[in-house]
Amino acid sequence: MFKAQLNTNTLKSKVDKNIYGHFSEHLGRCIYGGLYVGENSDIPNVDGMRLDVVEALKAVKIPVLRWPGGCFADEYHWMDGIGPKNERPSMINTNWGGVTEDNSFGTHEFLRLCELLGCEPYINGNLGSGTVREMSQWVEYLNSDNISPMTELRKKNGREKSWGVKYFAVGNENWGCGGNMRPEYYADEYRRYATYCRNYGDNKLVKVACGPNANDFKWTETIMRLCRGHMDALSLHNYVWRWKDSATEIDDEKYFDVVRDALSMEFLVEQHSKIMDQYDPGKRIALFVDEWGAWYKAMEGTNPGFLYQQNTMRDSVVAASILNIFNNHSDRVRMSNIAQVVNVIQALILTEGDKMLKTPTYHIYDLYKEHQDATLIGCDILENDEYSVEMRRPPMPPEHEGHHHPPKEIKSVNISATRAEDGSICATLCNVNHEKSISCSLSLVGNSYSEVSARILTSERYDDINTFEEPEKITLKPFTTNLSGSEITFELPPFSTFALII
Ligand code: AHR
Repeated sequence: MFKAQLNTNTLKSKVDKNIYGHFSEHLGRCIYGGLYVGENSDIPNVDGMRLDVVEALKAVKIPVLRWPGGCFADEYHWMDGIGPKNERPSMINTNWGGVTEDNSFGTHEFLRLCELLGCEPYINGNLGSGTVREMSQWVEYLNSDNISPMTELRKKNGREKSWGVKYFAVGNENWGCGGNMRPEYYADEYRRYATYCRNYGDNKLVKVACGPNANDFKWTETIMRLCRGHMDALSLHNYVWRWKDSATEIDDEKYFDVVRDALSMEFLVEQHSKIMDQYDPGKRIALFVDEWGAWYKAMEGTNPGFLYQQNTMRDSVVAASILNIFNNHSDRVRMSNIAQVVNVIQALILTEGDKMLKTPTYHIYDLYKEHQDATLIGCDILENDEYSVEMRRPPMPPEHEGHHHPPKEIKSVNISATRAEDGSICATLCNVNHEKSISCSLSLVGNSYSEVSARILTSERYDDINTFEEPEKITLKPFTTNLSGSEITFELPPFSTFALII
């Protein structure tokens, strides 16, 4: 049994729409083949951007897109990706499969894609192998309307007006692929690079400092202590890292193990926020969880460096539960970017030639889109079931599992609820329990309601997937609830996610 009370007049933090953000890296078939096919492709496109993918992302109201990496960002030299395409130098993508990157998708193409999607661009600068001057000039090229060599160059390349890019990260994973730095060293580098990322006109940059990997609390403490006056956000990367396990061969134990690990996001967000609170009690500095997702072994027969994997109902539970956690911690978490948007890790969309499918994770973003820019409301959980699976296999070594703190106890149902400007309430509930339907009851305090509309993502098995042969096997379905007085009741099937609008 799950019982909760929604206090519809207890307004908490705003759920920034950017919590529903995405990430696109020059990795495998995310950019090339996934988002961009080039102007000469037979696949329907606008300026080279796949129309089917653009439409699908617009339908879930994509608010922000991060680019060009990831690890790729700290090897990327932006000037190689501007100007006539046939004159752009190529490079080796050493992080991802050692393939040749021809730089045909660069700054102008990315910003055109964001225009088509109607979303904010979030650009990640190169601190690891780039120069201060290079980063500073990129920001000038993007955002200045003064007369300068950079703005003249931009105009020569076909763009008169600046783009006004707001979100800019100064390095990526600089504790690892971005230079293997110690936090103290990165802090000094960050301060130097960030100094020359200038504001132009009315555009105020949101400067993002590289944050910790999972539970590296020392990193957070050091960066907050040394950089807090120079930054607007700290990033956090946290994957459910099962890189030796298949995405689709799942048993009860593996199901539980992944879901439990996904729920550890709450512990991490809370712990990093506590450290941030010591230095920034007013919460000016946001936490951007700008990489997260369930990362499995690449699909058999594909380039292991391309990180292409299928996406099951289990992954929909991972996404739904983590997004509920972000909503519930939206006082500090103001952006998140699932990795990655197309064809890589926990993708929303998979493509094969001209075919495209929406994964179960995609449908979670569809289900949750009403939360964007709404206000979190009070939600008291009065009753919830414990859920566990006996773990017979030995625990995984840390290099396989990552550095997480899987909670010892899992509750069957997680929830978040928001109130939109028009007064409507959206509640999203996920039953993570793989074998039990849960009877749910939500009582509404503060207002009277006469109508409820609800949709559900459910399927027969936790390893169910959408395929190119059967792309609509798993889709959102309308769902019937009972509204009596101020109480709504319904039965939530195993590994299902449900949203209601009241
Ligand atoms: O998303 C794939 C990779 O994971 C990114 O390039 C990197 O930042 C992280 O380690």
